[in-house]
Amino acid sequence: MTKRITTVQEMHAVIRTLKKEQKQIGFVPTMGALHDGHLTMVKTSLQNNDITIVSVFVNPLQFGPNEDFDAYPRNIDSDQEKLEALETDYIFYPSVKEMYPEPLAISLKVNRMAEVLEGAKRPGHFDGVVTVVNKLFNIIRPDYAYFGKKDAQQLAIIEKMVQEFNHPIEIIGVDTIREADGLAKSSRNVYLTEQERQEAVHLYQSLTLAKEMYDAGERSSDALINAMHEHLSANTSGSIEDIAVYSYPELVEQQQVTGQIFISLAVKFSRARLIDNIILKGEKHD
Ligand code: PAJ
Repeated sequence: MTKRITTVQEMHAVIRTLKKEQKQIGFVPTMGALHDGHLTMVKTSLQNNDITIVSVFVNPLQFGPNEDFDAYPRNIDSDQEKLEALETDYIFYPSVKEMYPEPLAISLKVNRMAEVLEGAKRPGHFDGVVTVVNKLFNIIRPDYAYFGKKDAQQLAIIEKMVQEFNHPIEIIGVDTIREADGLAKSSRNVYLTEQERQEAVHLYQSLTLAKEMYDAGERSSDALINAMHEHLSANTSGSIEDIAVYSYPELVEQQQVTGQIFISLAVKFSRARLIDNIILKGEKHD
């Protein structure tokens, strides 16, 4: 049985009991419309903890005024079924009013790490993410929390937040789960037209192409980016918003591929803006 909890008060009560029983708690924050990417994290948590809690909350604070907050796919009953099938212990499913009874008097702001990549395109997005994740961490007080590497910038920012704000929580980064043809699973893939869905396979193919060039010895970021650009514009109708090479987890743009870096891309189709990335370990910095 997966118990659905909708209030902070009830969640606090459950957590108090679990802590008294010295249970180890794993937490997977999501915005719902669960797919195999989310469910892989849930399975990892179930294997490694006594209790697993999944939150489903479409957080208005992290959507810009012209973004898809209203249209974001919501299906709590099918989410619950998927979590029941895995024997997840709890779903935390609060309303917006429950999480934000009134406009916040205090806000969290992500500085430099939010000024690049997704953060540059989506002003305020990561402020909204760290605000809600802070609240969720305080409500659930997990020992381990799981985040996908698909959102590499988010993962790096959350790790920094946990360090700077002293949350006694270990963050686990989970590899990107993909469709058979390589497209990263995403709740937003449902927005793709049939043709766009076919084209979307080229996002991952362009990353694979860059990795092949890297494996063959190419170290110039521009060379990798140009090859990816060419591949994407030849094979998709989407507009290429960003292709970039950044150090990970520092999130500093790199001209040369040295040390651990990630290559990220964002492509806008008619109704969906998709992101993907690949992390390359690289050689050590001297
Ligand atoms: P959401 O987009 O629902 O994603 C929830 C978690 O699933 C994130 O950590 C994300 O990186 C991970 N994820 C998504 N697709 C994945 C895939 N194909 N493979 C592996 N992991 C994947 O990210 C958010 O929600 C929100 O910003 C949230 C952290 C819940 C705060 O509101």
